[in-house]
Amino acid sequence: MVTAAVCRFSYNPATMLDSLLACPRCDGTLTPRPDALACPGCRVTFPVIDGLPFLFAEPTATLGEWKARWHMETQRLSDDAKRYAQALGQAAPDGPTHRRLALLARASTDHADRLRALLAPLELDTLQAGHASYLALRTRLPTSQGLNTYYSNVHRDWCWGDKENTASADIVAAALGAVTGRMLVLGSGGSRLAYDLHRRCRPDTTVALDFNPLLLLLARRLTRGEPVELWEFPPAPKSIDDCAVLRTLTAPEPVDENFHFVVADALRAPFQPNSFDTVITPWISDILPEDFAVFCARVNRLLRPGGRWLNFGSLAFDRPDPAQNYSLEETLQLVEQQGFAAPTVHENSIPYMCSPASRHGRREIVVTFVAAKRADAEPVPRHVALPDWVVKGTEPVPLQPSFQMQAMSTRIHAFVMAMIDGQRSIADMAKLMEEQRLMTADEAIPVIRSFLIRMLES
Ligand SMILES: C[S@@+](CC[C@H](N)C(=O)[O-])C[C@H]1O[C@@H](n2cnc3c(N)ncnc32)[C@H](O)[C@@H]1O
Repeated sequence: MVTAAVCRFSYNPATMLDSLLACPRCDGTLTPRPDALACPGCRVTFPVIDGLPFLFAEPTATLGEWKARWHMETQRLSDDAKRYAQALGQAAPDGPTHRRLALLARASTDHADRLRALLAPLELDTLQAGHASYLALRTRLPTSQGLNTYYSNVHRDWCWGDKENTASADIVAAALGAVTGRMLVLGSGGSRLAYDLHRRCRPDTTVALDFNPLLLLLARRLTRGEPVELWEFPPAPKSIDDCAVLRTLTAPEPVDENFHFVVADALRAPFQPNSFDTVITPWISDILPEDFAVFCARVNRLLRPGGRWLNFGSLAFDRPDPAQNYSLEETLQLVEQQGFAAPTVHENSIPYMCSPASRHGRREIVVTFVAAKRADAEPVPRHVALPDWVVKGTEPVPLQPSFQMQAMSTRIHAFVMAMIDGQRSIADMAKLMEEQRLMTADEAIPVIRSFLIRMLES
């Protein structure tokens, strides 16, 4: 059992960082307060959590959202631990299955305790609702961006990934050449690349921004010289002992006081215009829920005239609009159209996520481009992730056709679920549906069957 003895650093207003920050709602100047930053214009106070400015446009709603995701995750881990313990009871003692399940049962319980300790500054235990309520309201962790989405990367960043980390830092540092002034890393994740570049390229100030508080709380502790033990669960373990591996994560040495973290949305980066000499976007541009052309304009706004944008990683856009799934050629053209000089481009093959405990691991051909800002881009509207009636929760929820349709199917689902009494067969239920004039029995049978299959699977 790990105690929640997390160091609680108070916010030490870093004048350099404060002078760069801006309100994510109105772009106005922020006023430092003890353990908070305030926007007098918007009358909103943004918390500083364990030394990390938490600068989302709706800080309370966003904190609630991350807490809900944690709540789901903790329930999932506890369900996993129960399943392992149950299976363990059936396994032959002293056999290899027993050994594997015992390791997984112990690791998943201990993992939850360790994450809870790490996330303690978010005061997570203020949510009490059960797993079912969260599932019903669909606050389940999205497959794309949950607390855990890039969790495995932290083991590469701070434990076994020297070869991969060095390869990335070498490519980026060589493409950048001499660096001066202020550097911003958007989507810094576990933040190893930001840390390596800060130490190698020696900008005056580095700001590492990510919207995932778990990754930045961890990176902050590590870069202050505090080792952290966390479990790695490799995707394709090489042996029983590799199913769950307790790793000690450490930074080679503590970083200096000119390295800062900000928890915020890269699409609403909370900085004054023209604040940075260099903006780095590692492995993020192609996963953002916004057209890359618009993102180019946002990066442009953050850079001073002549400042440089370095993009690094994959170019694998997966947007709903196929026109926005740009090739390298289109990507470079968009960069130029948004006020940048023609980018210089490099492509390199590097190892990617090759954990020593996993049979999975690959090579990626990464694209690095660097482009200097030659003109301001046309201003783009502030990014709106969700409508106000979702975020604020005080406005009427509009009765959209999709909601009406969903309400109808939910009623039918509820009807089917209510028919399950341990006695009725699918044929009996189909008859009842016919009696209720919902559909004919012949139509109802395959519909009920596929509904029950979905229920079984989830
Ligand atoms: C593929 S990971 C890359 C992490 C890190 N740059 C690296 O090279 O290992 C993408 C990162 O972007 C972050 N991210 C995604 N969307 C974001 C957003 N809108 N604002 C801030 N961070 C975001 C994720 O939390 C994640 O840490």
